[in-house]
Amino acid sequence: MSKAHVVDHPLVQHKLSIMRDKGTSTQGFRRLLREISVLLCYEVTRDLPLVMQTIETPLAEMQAPTLAGKKLVFASILRAGNGLLEGMLELVPSARVAHIGLYRDPETLKPVEYYFKAPEDLDARLVIVVDPMLATANSAIAAVQRLKDRGANNLRFVCLLAAPEGVAKFIEAHPDVPIYTAAIDERLNSHGYIVPGLGDAGDRMYGTK
Ligand code: PRP
Ligand code: URA
Repeated sequence: MSKAHVVDHPLVQHKLSIMRDKGTSTQGFRRLLREISVLLCYEVTRDLPLVMQTIETPLAEMQAPTLAGKKLVFASILRAGNGLLEGMLELVPSARVAHIGLYRDPETLKPVEYYFKAPEDLDARLVIVVDPMLATANSAIAAVQRLKDRGANNLRFVCLLAAPEGVAKFIEAHPDVPIYTAAIDERLNSHGYIVPGLGDAGDRMYGTK
């Protein structure tokens, strides 16, 4: 059964509060998102399986723990997902990357796909889907379904902010995919924006509004 993990680390919460502030610059917003993504990555990978490997230190041979299995995949929902992707790749530089281009139609709030590219063997890898915002959850649900249709069977979803409505809908659609988020806010407004939220993540990241 899927679950929403709230990453309540004080550094995450402090940085998120600065990001929410409408006075924070585009440059500051991007930098903070990258910094938080490193901390979220630490949490979402906390229980990755390890195997022992024989290595030689300068002093002795030893059994040393190393990550088991194939390299994991980060799947970024464009375009705001790339803000989380950057920090995640700093921590796991050998990860493979999938890109899913989706935008939310402002009238219907339904996702419209314009790009998809992913590694071939998704069925053999852990896939961590990243997007800062889980609002109605329409985009995240569609992205996860697209990855499942391509074979992914071991997925996690990481965001910065979620609405309670989006969390409930996502869990209903994908009960096997745990959510990691820095906060679950009060509600969605009539335009599908998270309240109090931080506004439009893509626009704030790239200065497009
Ligand atoms: C934002 C956000 C999510 C989506 C969340 O993207 O990055 O992908 O909205 O909303 P939902 O949960 O209601 O689907 P947007 O569509 O604004 O595209 P952008 O990243 O290109 O700005
Ligand atoms: N997308 C955003 O960027 N912000 C919201 O609050 C909702 C969807």
